[in-house]
Formats: sequence, C-alpha cells, structure tokens
Amino acid sequence: MIQKIEKINSVKGELVLPGDKSISHRAVMFSAMADGKSTVNNYLNSEDVNSTIGCFRKLGCKIEQTETDLVIDGKGFNGFTKPSSNLDAGNSGTTTRLITGILSAQNFETTIIGDASLSKRPMKRVVEPLSKMGAKIETSEIGSLPMKIIPSSGLKAIEFDMQVASAQVKSAVLLAGLHLEEETIVIEHSRTRNHTETLLGLKVEEFDGMRKIYSSKKNYPKPANYIVPSDISTAAFFIVLALNSNNSELLLKNVLLNETRNGIIKILQKMNGRIEIENTRESSGEKLGDLRIFSSKLKNIEINEEIIPNIIDEIPILAVAGLFSEGKFIIRNAEELRFKESDRIDALCSNFRKLGIDCIEYNDGFEISGKVFNENILIESYHDHRIAMAFSILGMLTGKNISINDFESVAVSNPEFLNQINIITVN
Ligand code: S3P
Repeated sequence: MIQKIEKINSVKGELVLPGDKSISHRAVMFSAMADGKSTVNNYLNSEDVNSTIGCFRKLGCKIEQTETDLVIDGKGFNGFTKPSSNLDAGNSGTTTRLITGILSAQNFETTIIGDASLSKRPMKRVVEPLSKMGAKIETSEIGSLPMKIIPSSGLKAIEFDMQVASAQVKSAVLLAGLHLEEETIVIEHSRTRNHTETLLGLKVEEFDGMRKIYSSKKNYPKPANYIVPSDISTAAFFIVLALNSNNSELLLKNVLLNETRNGIIKILQKMNGRIEIENTRESSGEKLGDLRIFSSKLKNIEINEEIIPNIIDEIPILAVAGLFSEGKFIIRNAEELRFKESDRIDALCSNFRKLGIDCIEYNDGFEISGKVFNENILIESYHDHRIAMAFSILGMLTGKNISINDFESVAVSNPEFLNQINIITVN
C-alpha cells in the first residue's frame, strides 16, 4: 500500500504509546516457560509480538489476548509440546533468535520459518554458540531460515565470548543456559540492551568495560505480572517530529528509560533538543518516566562508537533529525544496520539520494548534508517498519508531497502509527 504523507505544522497534546517490543517478546516467552499463570499488561499488540504469541500457542501454551493485556498459562520446565507444523516467526528476528535458545533444550524437533526479509537475515550468530553448547541446528546453505532444531543428546554450559554486539545472540545463549544446572556465561564487550538479564534477575559482573552475565536453572522463570512501559524506539519518531516542528509541546507518558535504551534521548538532548524527563519510576525492574518535548533548534554532534548498540534501532529516525539540524550528520561503526529488517544503510542512503540530499555511504555508516530538494518522491520502504516511519516523519516535516510504499509494514512495531500522529497534529 502506498501512503501519501501530509505536511504537519505543529504538534500539541499527549500520548501513551504501546508497550516496548523487546520487553513484550520476553514477557510472553518467560510467561510461557513459567509453571502457572502470568499476566502481561500494556504489551505491544503488533505483528512481531503476535508472531511470538503464535509460536508459543503452537508449543501448547494457552494465551488469552485483549488489545492491551495477556493472560498466559505457562507450561513449566519441559512442558512444551511438539508443534503440529512449522513455527512462523514472520518478520521478527527477536522471536527467531530467542526462541532458538529455548528450543535447543527441548526433546522434540521444530522448524522455524519467516517472511522474505527474515529469511535473508544471518542465523549463524546464534547457531554457532548454541552448537558449542551441544545443540543440533540446521539452517539453509547461507546460514538463514528455515532453521531446523533437532533434539540433542544433552546441552552443556559454556563460557561464550560474544564478538557481535547483539542482545538477541546474548539472550539465545542465556535462555538455553536456563535449562542447565551449571552456569552458562556470556561475555559482552559492547553494552547491548539488558532486558533478558533484568527480567530474569541474572547475575551480571562488570569488568574492564565488559560484562559477564550468568544463567542457570535456578533463574528459570516463575509466573509473574509484567507491566510493559511504552516503547522508547516508537517514542523516538514522535520526539523527532515534535522537536522539529514549530510551536510544539508534546507529552509522552510512561516511556521506557532503561539505560541500555535511552541513548536516543541523550543524543537529542546534546543536539540541543529540549526533552524534559518527569515522574521517573520503576516497574517490573525497568525504569520509566514521562517525556515533555518542545520545538528546538538542533545541531549535529559527534556520535561515538560505544553508544551505537544503545541507539541501533533509532538510527533511521536520528538521521532524519540530523538532516534538520545544523551541520553534517555522520554515523560510523554501525555495520550491524546492514543486518536489520532491511539493509538500513543502503535503504537510508538510496532514499536520501532520491530526495536530493548529499549522501556518502560507508560500509559501516554514512554522512548526509543538504536539504530535501526533490518533490513528489516515492520512498522505497524495503518493507521495513522503521524505514517507513522515519521517512513518514521526514515527509511530515518537509511537506514535499512524499509517499511511502509498502507502508503496511509499520504494523510490525506500531499498527496505530498514523492514528497517534493524527491525535497530536495541529494544522
Ligand atoms: C533486540 C535486539 C537488537 C534490536 C532488535 C531487538 C532485542 O537486535 O535491533 O530490534 O529485543 O533483543 P540485535 O540483537 O541483533 O542487536
């Protein structure tokens, strides 16, 4: 579906955005694993999280679902049953990689499939450490889906020195480790999102800027009542819109402020963005608060390497913010962007060029400068929700008659995106 984007002059009002995607996936998984009833309030009812819910239903779990809440009857240790057909992870890398860790420890065979985008994404990064633990996993020739997980004669705990900065890889190994008496250890060099450790209460040791994270059977999840804060990655689109439109004041309530995820706020504040944080508190071990955002005159800053894993999902919308800021926007050390729902470096650069923006592409990033010059452009979203939403915001700010193709992909993380925009628009 092609979506025409209208110019927005000002935003005013408040929103409570849907629950965080990463936490919603984990709350569903941990509830399904626990022995007994759990509840998840304010989960993200989107295609990705519904893929996780669908997989656990196929594994024998009863899940009652409303628009905002879940009641999950967990199966307990060794309680999952062999699915009657393949598990379909849709577009979701988090579903695929995390569930592979759980399935590696089951005594039945499963096959995971996904959509065209997910079927191109690299799975060797989880297959390698899980195979070291003794898991038997077969992938396609290029190391991607479909992926068959075959019962093995037994897993063993490992110490895994993780070379790629990936919370999904870290979580896959730690979740397999939950099935063993002995401690599995993941060594993390760059700080990636820590929801798995936080929600499971895992032991974490910090040393020389690295972290050692431990999991074993004693951390196996128990029934819980999860309350999911609003997704900071979704909030980022609304923050950038409010900062760059005139006479704006926007209140976003209950936003996740976890320190492995709040890099986008820190960077936009350093860029001169007026974002005030109010009413900070904790829920299910996660920090959250309300954000008040005002129109601001932004300037570009240097973005250092250590913060990249913290902002990896926000780079598309951060680049849009950079375009409306004084100076050049430069991002480097972000090669991981090439392995997301699309090759996001290529997707961003090719669309920026279409719009008449100067763009230099690197293997691990890009530089952009200049202004949106061309009108009536059809943006290629590559069926990637964050590319579709980032260029929608650009279109709302420039009003150059921009349209986005395959716009329905926004339902992967925020089906209500345009309705939420309408609520806060003043024209
Ligand atoms: C996620 C981890 C990140 C992120 C993804 C969600 C998670 O991916 O990009 O959207 O929930 O663990 P990587 O683990 O590949 O960095």
